[in-house]
Amino acid sequence: MLYVKDLHKSYMTGKKEYPVLKGINFQIAKGEFVAVMGPSGSGKSTLLNCISCYIPFDKGEITLGGIDLTNLNETGLAKVRNEKLGFVFQDFMLLDGLSVRENILVPRIIRGKVDAEAERLADRLISLFGIEHIKNKYPAEISGGEKQRTAVARSLINDPYVILADEPTGNLDSKSSRTVIESFEHAKEQMNATIFMVTHDSFAASFCDRVILLKDGTVFRHLEKAGSRSDFQDVLLEAIKEMSE
Ligand SMILES: Nc1ncnc2c1ncn2[C@@H]1O[C@H](COP(=O)(O)OP(=O)(O)OP(=O)(O)O)[C@@H](O)[C@H]1O
Ligand SMILES: [Mg+2]
Repeated sequence: MLYVKDLHKSYMTGKKEYPVLKGINFQIAKGEFVAVMGPSGSGKSTLLNCISCYIPFDKGEITLGGIDLTNLNETGLAKVRNEKLGFVFQDFMLLDGLSVRENILVPRIIRGKVDAEAERLADRLISLFGIEHIKNKYPAEISGGEKQRTAVARSLINDPYVILADEPTGNLDSKSSRTVIESFEHAKEQMNATIFMVTHDSFAASFCDRVILLKDGTVFRHLEKAGSRSDFQDVLLEAIKEMSE
C-alpha cells in the first residue's frame, strides 16, 4: 500500500543545507493503523508532508497504492492528494460556512462531483461515527471531539489509500482524544482503512498495530503490538525512554 524507501529530505536555510530525513525505510499494508513517534524536530511532520505530496523530497522513493510519487509532476501530485489521500489535521480544518454533512462531502466537491453514491457514503460515515444528531450543524456549534470525528469522516469520503494524520489528538482532552482514536479503529475495522498518524501521545499510539520511532531523521525502532493495549503502551514508554538516553 505505502512504501517508503531510503527517503532523504533536507531544508536549505540560507546557504546551509540542513538534513532532516536521512534514509527512512518502512512499509504499511492495507488496513494497518500505524503511528510515528519521536522527539520534537525529529522529522515526523516532514515525513508526513513528503507522503502527502506537500513538499518535494531529495532522494529515495515513495510508492502509494502502486503509484510512484518520485517522478510525478505537480498535476499528478495534486491528483494523488485530492483523490487518493485523506487528511486529518490537528486543528480539524473544517469550513465554517458549511454544515457537518457538507464538510464531509468537501473532498468530493474538489474532485468535481457529488453524485448519489457520494451522498450515500456521507450518510453511512455520519452513522458510523455517531454524528447524525449534528449533521446539519455548523463547526462553531459542535465540540472539539465532534469536529475531529467529522474530520475523520471527511478523510474517508474518497476511500483513500491512506489517511494521514498529524497530531490529530493534539488539541483535545483525553476523552475527546479517545473518541478520535476510536473513530480510526472504526474506520480500520469497518472500512479496512489504512491510517498513518503522527502523535506525541503514547496512549493514542498504543491503539495502533505498529509504531515507528523516529530519532534525528532515522528510524530508531519499529515496534509491533503483541498482547494488550496497556502492555503495548508500556513497551512504547520503555523504548521512548531508551531513545532519550
Ligand atoms: N520549511 C522548513 N524550513 C527549514 N527548516 C524546517 C522547515 N520545516 C521544518 N524544519 C526543521 O526540520 C526539523 C524537523 O521538523 P519537523 O516539523 O518535521 O519535526 P517534528 O518531528 O514534526 O517536530 P514536532 O514534534 O515539534 O512537530 C526541525 O528542526 C525544523 O526546525
Ligand atoms: Mg510536527
